[in-house]
Amino acid sequence: MKLLVTGGAGFIGSEFVKQAVLSGYAVAVIDALTYAGDIERLKNVESWYRFYKVDITNKPALEEVFKKEKPEVVVHFAAESHVDRSILEPNIFIKTNIEGTLNLLDLSRKYGIQRFINISTDEVYGELDEEGKFTESSPLMPNSPYSVSKAGQDMLGRAYMRTYGLPVITVRPSNNYGPWQYPEKLIPVVIVKAIKNEPIPVYGDGKNIRQWLYVEDCASAVMKVMEKGRDGEIYNVPGSEELRNIQIVETIIEILHKPKELIKFVQDRPGHDYRYAMDSDKIEKLGWYPKTKFKDGIRETINWYINNLTWVENKMDYLSKFWAKVYK
Ligand SMILES: NC(=O)c1ccc[n+]([C@@H]2O[C@H](COP(=O)([O-])OP(=O)(O)OC[C@H]3O[C@@H](n4cnc5c(N)ncnc54)[C@H](O)[C@@H]3O)[C@@H](O)[C@H]2O)c1
Repeated sequence: MKLLVTGGAGFIGSEFVKQAVLSGYAVAVIDALTYAGDIERLKNVESWYRFYKVDITNKPALEEVFKKEKPEVVVHFAAESHVDRSILEPNIFIKTNIEGTLNLLDLSRKYGIQRFINISTDEVYGELDEEGKFTESSPLMPNSPYSVSKAGQDMLGRAYMRTYGLPVITVRPSNNYGPWQYPEKLIPVVIVKAIKNEPIPVYGDGKNIRQWLYVEDCASAVMKVMEKGRDGEIYNVPGSEELRNIQIVETIIEILHKPKELIKFVQDRPGHDYRYAMDSDKIEKLGWYPKTKFKDGIRETINWYINNLTWVENKMDYLSKFWAKVYK
């Protein structure tokens, strides 16, 4: 079975490519290698996949890859993926996440793709207070430019299934963490700042709650859905543990033996969603559950950043400017 994986040089996409290659799939990767993309993430799978540096908003270039590779399944991870950046620069989110997805859906229809896995997010549901969980039939109430663009991507998939009969399956994962995550997202920012003994920025009062999912578990869920899911269905992929941001920060500080005084509460993110939580019944019926406990996953992740600090240092020019813009 030939897979076309978009965003395969990104954090989650690269983990999926590794697992797919190990499972014996032929894999072609499309990635524009934006600031967030890095081919180094695929160094351990070197010759086992074909790589195309293509932007999904460039339809003619994308079509050349479809013609050449003749994929049977498209697994679509490519996206602008960071909420804070979407607040600073919303346009690129609409272009990549909505227009780019439209191009992929169109070409998938034209070239008779057998299955299209559309990677959405829990953020499309909007926020919850302390109670309850989102199911796959909860209404979409996205709040940030990022989550609105992802809801657009998500709904376009639905439209292509309903209108044109393209076999689309939608996957909505919760917050991921693990090795190789670009240090703009909470967990790698905290780890990197703590390692460097720099002030650790925490939005607002730090009480926001997320369901944390280890990246290997997320990729295995996508694989499970690709192999066992039903066309036209939506699958939530929640991590098993709900944690407040401040609990995450305190855990990392403790593991690294750093002082709590490094924590610096900063002006909250505009429109910051309070809590995301999803029900996992549907994907569990496919035989998937998250294997990695947070206490183990976070240790793996911290060790990885300690051993790969040069990877972060090489990105520091971009990162220091970005951090200065968002943490006030
Ligand atoms: N990270 C999370 O916690 C999380 C949670 C739920 C859903 N998701 C979704 O999962 C997917 C992967 O997330 P991630 O964390 O790996 O993101 P990421 O930012 O690490 O990777 C995105 C990849 O897409 C590529 N890309 C961006 N724009 C492109 C374009 N126009 N054309 C081609 N490639 C382009 C980038 O170069 C990068 O390699 C995204 O769709 C994201 O919305 C992420």
